[in-house]
Parts: sequence; structure tokens; C-alpha cells
Amino acid sequence: MTVFQEDAVKWLSTLADASVDLIITDPPYESLEKHRKIGTTTRLKVSKSSSNLWFNIFPNSRFEELLNQVYRVLKNNSHFYLFCDQETMFIIKPIAERVGFKFWKPIIWDKISIGMGYHYRARYECILFFEKGKRKLNNLGIPDILEYKRVYRGYPTEKPIELMKTLIEQSSCEGDLVVDPFFGSGAVLVAAHDLGRAFAGSDISNIAHDYYFKRA
Ligand SMILES: C[S@@+](CC[C@H](N)C(=O)[O-])C[C@H]1O[C@@H](n2cnc3c(N)ncnc32)[C@H](O)[C@@H]1O
Repeated sequence: MTVFQEDAVKWLSTLADASVDLIITDPPYESLEKHRKIGTTTRLKVSKSSSNLWFNIFPNSRFEELLNQVYRVLKNNSHFYLFCDQETMFIIKPIAERVGFKFWKPIIWDKISIGMGYHYRARYECILFFEKGKRKLNNLGIPDILEYKRVYRGYPTEKPIELMKTLIEQSSCEGDLVVDPFFGSGAVLVAAHDLGRAFAGSDISNIAHDYYFKRA
């Protein structure tokens, strides 16, 4: 069984030291609540569509324990990608450096079309790129802006599988173990499977599990 329904930190703490080749994850950080409310409060209350569904937020105060576990379970000479917004980025970076990661840069996911917001409408998300030890990217020609259309009417905050494939191809090899402790729709797990990687993940939500098993 490679899919679990446990708290991310609790689940990661069951994995052995230096047992994972790559972690890509998209935690439900606190400031997501803000994005959710911009201009949509009423629609979210009355809509019967799947965008009504939401999940528990992972508090900023828990990032230190999470990142400690992420660092511990990753093999030496590996990469770690974390999706977040421009506010949470400043919270995560110093914590990740404290637990031992080298921070390279935010990679930008350009969603191509504009979204919500009043202060310049949102078109991108950040993917923080970290390294444990030293590892070369597999393709040195890939830019730091990745353009993939957003997913409409999917799981809340669902990411495109093709975007996940780019990160997996850059930072792992066939047969490697790829992990996502907040898997949501399972985009990382599906991408890893399609690329011949082993995969494992956790999500505490029943809805995430139903969604993943329908598409897997
Ligand atoms: C931002 S979504 C992930 C979306 C995913 N990247 C995708 O492409 O669909 C965050 C997920 O974390 C889950 N979650 C919230 N708190 C959690 C916790 N403490 N441990 C594990 N999963 C958690 C939520 O149920 C939600 O599915």
C-alpha cells in the first residue's frame, strides 16, 4: 500500500532515514484561506459545485516539524520542491535553511490565464526549490518559469500532472521513490507512476482519497 490517510508529519515520521529520492508537495498553508475568500465568499457558500469542497489548513507553526521530517527522510544528494504563495515563501525559506536545506530559487508556475485578486490578478504560484547535499538537475535547459494551464473544476488547488512530470524528470530517475505527504488529487503520485517511479503519499481527507482512486 503506497497511499495513506494520516497527518503528514506523523506519516513521514514512520519512514526510515534517507529512504526517499524526491519530495514534491503542496501543503494547505494558512494564507490559502485568504486567496479563497477574495471575491468568492458568496459563490463558495451557495455553489453546489465541487469547488465548494475545501480542506483543513496546515498552520505555519507546524512547518518546522514538517521540514525536519522531510529533510530526515530524503536521501543525501536529493531535491525537494514545495508549492506556496509569495507570502508563505518568506516563512518557509528560513525554516528550511535551518533544518539543513540549501535554497536555490523559487520556480514560477505560470498558469497562463489570470485568476482572482484585486492587486494585480494572480497568474502564478511559487515552487520553492531546495537541495539536500548536491544533485545536478537532469536537464540543464529547462527554464525557471514553467507554463502549464491551471486545472479547472478539479480538486481544490489541483495541480497539472504535466507540471509535476517536469519536476520529477528533472530530479529523479526511473525506479526512484517519489513522495507527497499532502497529495490532494494525487497529481504527484499519478505523474510519478506514469514516469516509472515508485511513489507514496498521505492525505487526511476522505475526498482526496476518493478523488485519487477514481483517477488512478
Ligand atoms: C493544497 S492541497 C494539495 C493539492 C495537490 N497538490 C493537487 O495537485 O491536487 C493540500 C492537501 O493537504 C491535505 N491535508 C491538510 N492537512 C493535512 C495534514 N495535516 N496531513 C496530511 N494531509 C493534509 C488536504 O486534505 C489537501 O488535500
